[in-house]
Amino acid sequence: MTLVLGIETSCDETGVGIVRDDVLLADAIASQVDEHARFGGVVPEVASRAHLEAMVPTVDRALAAAGVALSDVDAVAVTTGPGLAGALLVGVAAAKAYALSLGVPLVGVNHLAAHVAVDVLEHGPLPDPCVALLVSGGHSSLLLVPDITDVRPLGATVDDAAGEAFDKVARVLGLPFPGGPHIDRAAREGDPAAIAFPRGKADDGTYDFSFSGLKTAVARWVEARTDIPVNDVAASFQEAVVDVLVRKAVDACREHGAALLIGGGVAANSRLRAVAQERCDRHGIPLRVPRPGLCTDNGAMVAALGSQLFRRGVTTPLDALADPSLAIA
Ligand code: KG4
Ligand code: ZN
Repeated sequence: MTLVLGIETSCDETGVGIVRDDVLLADAIASQVDEHARFGGVVPEVASRAHLEAMVPTVDRALAAAGVALSDVDAVAVTTGPGLAGALLVGVAAAKAYALSLGVPLVGVNHLAAHVAVDVLEHGPLPDPCVALLVSGGHSSLLLVPDITDVRPLGATVDDAAGEAFDKVARVLGLPFPGGPHIDRAAREGDPAAIAFPRGKADDGTYDFSFSGLKTAVARWVEARTDIPVNDVAASFQEAVVDVLVRKAVDACREHGAALLIGGGVAANSRLRAVAQERCDRHGIPLRVPRPGLCTDNGAMVAALGSQLFRRGVTTPLDALADPSLAIA
């Protein structure tokens, strides 16, 4: 059995996870959401500094929660990209220092692959093959995953990420940052068919997404009115996003005879979960969605992927660099 410590600092969460093989022992998070909320978005410099301050205490918290000592750790996994350069550097430098001082291997992991790999902690080995829909504030991608070491991009957003669209529309509606959960809540009281917002790239025959036209359409609709039915706008906007995401994900699953796995912060969205379940059931597609705490950025996902790679003999040299634009394959 191997004990892997995973460090995640690609955006605004300092996450430290500890897994023993595929079993989660601890998942400590230091969230910076409050520090960024007054700016209405993530400020890279603020993120880097906050990671620096939180790193060692969060590692200590994870070790205590797992009931293990630093000297028990067999490998240190870390997100090397994609993400914010300064934020990634803090995690990578810390992971190298821990690995070097403990005399154990470093395992660099791709953040997107880690969002997929985390599901093994909750639901066991990944379905084969599996299509992953990754939707968060920084990415919206459809991936074909025959194996966790073989992640192939099928499509991605050509402009805004889905979560970014949620956050920007929330701002237009006067809801706090991050807006996704607030839109989700408001939409429960609204009519998803109230306003016919555009569904970008819905029928273009690709697995790419586009959300900036939708975001602009919502902003124009709101600007043109004084009395805004916030719940109806939220529900109609959310429906447009969810409809395209699920439509393309289901198409990809049918083309590849695959199960669907949904990850990333937007996977916490209640309407996305419901519509995905309904349409997957209709087409006999197995659906897996990790619990919300494992969908948003966290250290457990890095430890989970690091552990899977380490057990297959994959390690990373100590002079490896962070790569803010690291590609998936
Ligand atoms: O994966 P994540 O924690 O960080 C990134 O890698 O971006 O995702 C954060 C994003 C934010 O845009 C947030 O608004 C969105 O996920 N989000 C949601 C919900 N919960 C979080 N979007 C829609 N509905 C939700 N319930
Ligand atoms: Zn993420």
